[in-house]
Amino acid sequence: MTIHNISHIAVIGAGLMGHGIAQEFASAGYQVLMHDVTDEHLQTARTQVEKNLKVLAENAIIEEENIPATLQRIQTATELAIVVENADFVVEAVTENLPLKQQIFEELDAICPPHTILASNTTALMPSQIGVNAKRKDKILNTHYFNPPYLIPLVELIRSPDTSDETVSVAFELLTAIGKTPAIIEKEALGFVGPRLQAALIREAFAIVERGIASAETVDLVVRNSFGRRLSVAGPFEVFELAGWDLVLAAFEELYKDLNSSSDINPLLRQMVESGKLGVKSKEGFYEWTDEKVQVLRDKMNQALIQQAKDV
Ligand SMILES: NC(=O)c1ccc[n+]([C@@H]2O[C@H](COP(=O)([O-])OP(=O)(O)OC[C@H]3O[C@@H](n4cnc5c(N)ncnc54)[C@H](O)[C@@H]3O)[C@@H](O)[C@H]2O)c1
Repeated sequence: MTIHNISHIAVIGAGLMGHGIAQEFASAGYQVLMHDVTDEHLQTARTQVEKNLKVLAENAIIEEENIPATLQRIQTATELAIVVENADFVVEAVTENLPLKQQIFEELDAICPPHTILASNTTALMPSQIGVNAKRKDKILNTHYFNPPYLIPLVELIRSPDTSDETVSVAFELLTAIGKTPAIIEKEALGFVGPRLQAALIREAFAIVERGIASAETVDLVVRNSFGRRLSVAGPFEVFELAGWDLVLAAFEELYKDLNSSSDINPLLRQMVESGKLGVKSKEGFYEWTDEKVQVLRDKMNQALIQQAKDV
């Protein structure tokens, strides 16, 4: 199996991530079939793809005249068997729920052609967990995109001990061919690299707020206007190599003793969820949210990501 055998992509789950992943493959010329539980979900996903493509065209990242052909390459169906009968590569992006993903992979394994590679976009679960009931364990891996998948280049490729070198290499070449930047994660672990690092950051951020060291607003202000700016051009190892590991060691020797290293969820996080302070979803978290404020933040983030995409 090589990348040249791949022409049909199936995307299972057409939500926030699924529609963007389908858009990426269709933009690169692949035939895509998208699946979700209702026609309404699929219609919303199509509308969203069209909106995204228009924004990309307005910003001269794609040609406006290519939009109709890209949209035509995306077909939809609520019947799973129809979506995957000719699929060479399947990306699963349903709700983050292990039993659900296990059941879908078992079903995909039974109904997909024997050569089909099955990839999950899970945020934190391991491919060996998701594919536990499937027979083709050599053809299962994670391809973990970041939101929004059509603006963030990186995709983590996570292999299980059973994933074959061939599967990893086909997935790597396929993602490269559609313009993504794949990173191979050699040993599976919950949360891979990106989500693990983000989890460590937010754990300490909660601890800072809980201990009264600084407010959530101050934490966001500090990150946005200091090391957050550097991180888009240099990774943490690059940044600290500039400083020198001797200085880092001296600075961390005392500091580490005071950092949060608890494996328990911070009580403040539990408290917020229990009191219904979910963030944008409930219009209240650390901040009060109106639809306008949410839109302003989303637009700001997208504009910055679009600028970075243009700079590449
Ligand atoms: N949101 C993010 O920033 C992000 C980033 C990276 C990875 N992920 C992961 O991607 C996956 C999808 O997340 P999302 O944010 O797109 O969620 P979402 O809720 O926006 O979309 C999930 C979609 O899956 C559909 N679905 C649920 N059960 C299904 C089934 N049995 N068959 C077909 N479709 C089904 C839902 O109807 C929904 O449209 C999750 O595993 C999540 O952890 C999310």
